[in-house]
Amino acid sequence: MSVPTSFREYRTQGDGHQNLKLQSVTLSKPKATEVTIKIHAVSLQFRDLMVSKGIYPQQKRDIVPCSDGAGEIVALGQEVKGWKVGDRVCPNFALDHIHGDVTEDIKFTGLGGHIDGVLQEYINVPVHSLVRIPEHLSYEEGSTLPCAALTAYNACLGPVPVKGGDYVLVLGTGGVSIFGAQLALASGATVIVTSSSDEKLQVAKKLGVQHIINYKKNVKWDEEVLNITGGRGVDHIIEVGGPNTILKCINAVRYAGWVHIIGFVSGGDNGIPVGLAITKAINFRGILIGSVKQYGLIFISLLY
Ligand SMILES: NC(=O)c1ccc[n+]([C@@H]2O[C@H](COP(=O)([O-])OP(=O)(O)OC[C@H]3O[C@@H](n4cnc5c(N)ncnc54)[C@H](OP(=O)(O)O)[C@@H]3O)[C@@H](O)[C@H]2O)c1
Repeated sequence: MSVPTSFREYRTQGDGHQNLKLQSVTLSKPKATEVTIKIHAVSLQFRDLMVSKGIYPQQKRDIVPCSDGAGEIVALGQEVKGWKVGDRVCPNFALDHIHGDVTEDIKFTGLGGHIDGVLQEYINVPVHSLVRIPEHLSYEEGSTLPCAALTAYNACLGPVPVKGGDYVLVLGTGGVSIFGAQLALASGATVIVTSSSDEKLQVAKKLGVQHIINYKKNVKWDEEVLNITGGRGVDHIIEVGGPNTILKCINAVRYAGWVHIIGFVSGGDNGIPVGLAITKAINFRGILIGSVKQYGLIFISLLY
């Protein structure tokens, strides 16, 4: 495959997507452990709107936006093994987040926020960032997965994964939430979805979601969640609302349940530092004393 010497990229110039500039730039060869990807599809995420407005935390200015792209490898660095020209791939959202916990250094490898992203015809990325696109997915389908789907996966399949018999509450019908609902349903959970739109709730029902609540018509949706679960509360919540929804989520979750703090689409500012919790990927874990088993384990811990 012939690789051009120049290509086109979109780059922000000031704030607002009207200030995106399409320009021609030189294509450099991949470094020894990099590959060059020809981008075939890019999907838009909530974050891309924030970046274009210049309000994404610690974002790079004058940046090639967008985190979510899919394409084919067109050139390999000298030391790259296990990949070939023509392979269909997505680069991970944060190029250096290979496994384990995120760190500040890793966070700053986030495509389209901290470093140049995928809204360009070609991109050089480290080979360790690549994920192969399964055969049954098109480039367009593959390009929807790096941000919203991975976030939902991280929430549903975290330290205590969603399992059969669990109740999972999903706020809204955005990208993260619908992927969360699908993963929870596939794990055997009963899923409750809220939305401002009855039409969207019907779409959620068609996906297999068992319970739906219109949060505009029923502002006490947390109480409705408690009713559905017989007063117990849900096991996991996909919390994309932020300050305006988090207190209701705390009401709707069961004792020792999980509120996965992901977004802030509902707005508001009640002093709860939701944004900081997200950008540091911290765990808010409530502790209410402990169990008999843990009590017993104290003695073993102290003995050995
Ligand atoms: N932490 C992370 O790693 C991470 C990753 C991806 C996204 N996020 C964040 O997660 C949030 C959602 O992202 P997304 O990609 O899913 O966005 P999206 O596709 O644009 O979805 C937005 C949806 O939020 C829902 N919504 C708005 N206000 C709401 C409220 N008061 N209560 C409940 N739902 C409400 C709406 O659902 P209805 O139309 O059904 O009402 C809307 O469709 C954003 O804040 C984004 O920045 C975080």
